[in-house]
Amino acid sequence: MRTEVSGVTDQVTRYGLPGAAMARLREQARRLRGDHEFVVTFYDVLFTLRPELRPMFPEDLGAQRARFGDEFGTLVQALGDPEGFEQRGRALGRRHLEYGVGAEHYAKVRDVLVIAIAAHLGEECTAEDREAWSTAYDLIAVVMQKGAVD
Ligand code: HEM
Repeated sequence: MRTEVSGVTDQVTRYGLPGAAMARLREQARRLRGDHEFVVTFYDVLFTLRPELRPMFPEDLGAQRARFGDEFGTLVQALGDPEGFEQRGRALGRRHLEYGVGAEHYAKVRDVLVIAIAAHLGEECTAEDREAWSTAYDLIAVVMQKGAVD
């Protein structure tokens, strides 16, 4: 399904995620956004499961954690606004090219992010929610990678 970049993006902009799944994601994203504990968990899990990624990031993660949490939340909310979503995602992807982020990194971060979200939300995060988070992340990652090749 996710082999062809523009095809996937068209699916988002035309159809989005199923309405009920999207509504749950938005609600969960609202709560995760600005939740310091969540971003701390995310980076802890990331560097525990993927220690090879640690040197890519600044030593002091203070600002990075907050910016990631904000941007991720903003992009999830922006899924309902295809134009804004594309613009924002592409710009973020271009910057990530400068940070040395390549195609091989995106899936690694997705898996960790879904684990961190599920751990943080507990029982409230159902199997369907995890699947929806994974899809939402892929939609973001595809647009970011489009920005990186612009
Ligand atoms: C949903 C996907 C992602 C989002 C929303 C996101 C968000 C952000 C944000 C907001 C920043 C702060 C700087 C800026 O705005 O340009 C940042 C920096 C960074 N991100 Fe991401 N990111 C994502 C995926 C990734 C992936 C897959 C990697 C790969 C390891 C990564 C590695 C980095 C690095 C190395 C920095 C730069 C740190 C620095 O030198 O200051 N990010 N990210």
